[in-house]
Amino acid sequence: MVDKTSDILILGAGCFGASTAYHLLKRGFTSVTVVDRSTVLPAPDGASTDFNRIVRSSYSEPFYARFAREAIAAWKDQSEWGDTYHESGVLVLGTGESSYCDSAYDNDVTMGARITNFSDADGLRSAFPPSIKTSFSETSSGYLNSDGGWANATKGTSLMVSKVLALGGRILRGKTAKRLLQGNGRTSGVEFNDGTTIRADLVIVATGSWTASSFPEVQLGDKFIATGQSVATIQLTAEEALKYNDCPVVLDFKSGFYVFPPNDDYILKMAIHAGGYANFEPTPQSTTPISTPRTIGSHGVDGLRIPKAMAKALREHLRAVYPELADKPFSGTRLCWYNDTPDEDWVIGYYPGDQGLMFATGGSGHAFKFLPVIGSLVADAVTDDLDPSLKQRFAFDRKCRAHDLSRSLTVLPLQESELRTAEDLVPQ
Ligand SMILES: *[C@@H]1O[C@H](CO)[C@@H](O)[C@H](O)[C@H]1NC(C)=O
Ligand SMILES: *[C@@H]1O[C@H](CO)[C@@H](O)[C@H](O)[C@H]1NC(C)=O
Repeated sequence: MVDKTSDILILGAGCFGASTAYHLLKRGFTSVTVVDRSTVLPAPDGASTDFNRIVRSSYSEPFYARFAREAIAAWKDQSEWGDTYHESGVLVLGTGESSYCDSAYDNDVTMGARITNFSDADGLRSAFPPSIKTSFSETSSGYLNSDGGWANATKGTSLMVSKVLALGGRILRGKTAKRLLQGNGRTSGVEFNDGTTIRADLVIVATGSWTASSFPEVQLGDKFIATGQSVATIQLTAEEALKYNDCPVVLDFKSGFYVFPPNDDYILKMAIHAGGYANFEPTPQSTTPISTPRTIGSHGVDGLRIPKAMAKALREHLRAVYPELADKPFSGTRLCWYNDTPDEDWVIGYYPGDQGLMFATGGSGHAFKFLPVIGSLVADAVTDDLDPSLKQRFAFDRKCRAHDLSRSLTVLPLQESELRTAEDLVPQ
């Protein structure tokens, strides 16, 4: 069992890693080191780095719904987070059509969130400024949760990294883990690609979508899979941005499509929360290929290309929300890499039988909103204070329940020949 003077080594300075370091330091841990492979933080190709991430309490699982309300309360403290969080409201689509959406609605009502219920397209329209044209189908329904919105992810992660430094944490950049140092059934540190080693009483792996392909020495089985999710952006003019500025985030639980209001740089971002794509690559250590992120880091700008089919789908989904924007060219695309678990619950806990190794990852595309608070769960796990039901929920060796139906989980193989070209950035 570790104590507050133990040497804690955290791999990864993204949402899980930075938040964990912060919460351990807050509780008086004196030796916390975070190592990241990227020389720039937050890592430009990490899932914690982006224009924006949805901050919603609309979850079918009461635990996540309540924990999201805690996170939202934390985000609203501007002395800690400045203008990182934008309370635009989240318009959730799919009541009466998606069981996930219906239970999310019930949870939001029970928690006392500021909700407006809409049963048809006219109702939904009223969630937008009058000058905005929307094209919801007549029978669509949903609800506006005014206690939610979005966060500038890059800014949130940068601030968390600064907080870690301010509390006396050590952050080392540009170091990639090569292997875990193990002996007598216990992890005792990490060897890095630059030849250095760091010894630790506890190593916490928070390497997000790189986890599955990076630690062949531990049996990860099918616990984690890196899936690439397609994102596209449109550069609006100042005038258009002003017009769309007061729109809520739109999140459709039937298709997984979501679109943000424009950010301060007039960029409108959209994506689809779905099964995504796996990039299976052979690894020297494993006979079966393991999905590993294909990003701007590994492939330069080519790593930003999304499948053609997804460019098309994103545009058609956008047309069904904002028809007046649907023929504008995409200014950019990106594959955002999730670290998916089979049941979409995170993994927060010790590797079975090894008191020197813990995992804090498996965000499954829904962890970022919890940045201010997620590390408190990991800190609880470190000191063995995690609530028993959560310990079970997040255990590495839990029996996975059926996934939560917030999205389809059909994962397709990423084929280089099917990636979009410049032509796919404009309407066909
Ligand atoms: C909210 O809307 C849904 C779908 O239209 C409907 O089934 C539900 O009864 C409504 N709830 C309330 C409290 O009005
Ligand atoms: C988001 O945060 C980053 C990092 O602080 C900042 O550079 C960027 O301008 C912000 N974006 C917007 C649109 O405010």
